[in-house]
Amino acid sequence: MLKDSKTGYGLISIIFHWACAPLILFVFGLGVYMRGLDYYSPWYHRGPEIHIELGLLIFFLMVLRLLWRLRSGSPEAIATIPKSNQLAANLVKLVIYIAVFTICITGYLITTAEGSGANFFGIFNIPTTLELSADNIDRAGKIHKYVAWGLIALVALHATAALFHHFIKRDKTLVRMLKPSDDSL
Ligand code: HEM
Repeated sequence: MLKDSKTGYGLISIIFHWACAPLILFVFGLGVYMRGLDYYSPWYHRGPEIHIELGLLIFFLMVLRLLWRLRSGSPEAIATIPKSNQLAANLVKLVIYIAVFTICITGYLITTAEGSGANFFGIFNIPTTLELSADNIDRAGKIHKYVAWGLIALVALHATAALFHHFIKRDKTLVRMLKPSDDSL
């Protein structure tokens, strides 16, 4: 029930998935919104603070998710899905992981580039490890932005594929990520 089985996801993987998905969409929306704010907006400072705190939360959840995945394994592919589609789906998931980590690391680098740390809800402060030149801050900012847009495109593709399997193919792809599997590895 908690761990993934050969046929489906367990509760822990399902919670990680549905905690991260809306958080990523919200943090992306907030990132785009806060860049358009002017200095007199009440969100000018608070917006980026929340963005950084929730962005770090995504990073910690993704690290835990990866560790859990290594420990718990992951379900086998649904037999009726062609090998090429399974491969494409796995590739999209892998690139989503890489994109999230790239965005979080560049976000951390731009936040801490000038010596101040990245604060996590006032609980602790992650100190600067690399002080960047203005050019490199600019580069990290561009990577952060474009990879974030790429991530949203991939998430849209991933979600569309899940809906396609549910409503058109009528297989268990989406249900497996909603209902914990009964058998355990
Ligand atoms: C999956 C998680 C994240 C997503 C989807 C995301 C997305 C975005 C987006 C779309 C922007 C606006 C980019 C622009 O238009 O220039 C942005 C800006 C920013 N993000 Fe993130 N972000 C994430 C995580 C983080 C993290 C973990 C941090 C810091 C630890 C961070 C720090 C920043 C900062 C400082 C900016 C403002 C950049 C600037 O003013 O040039 N982000 N983010």
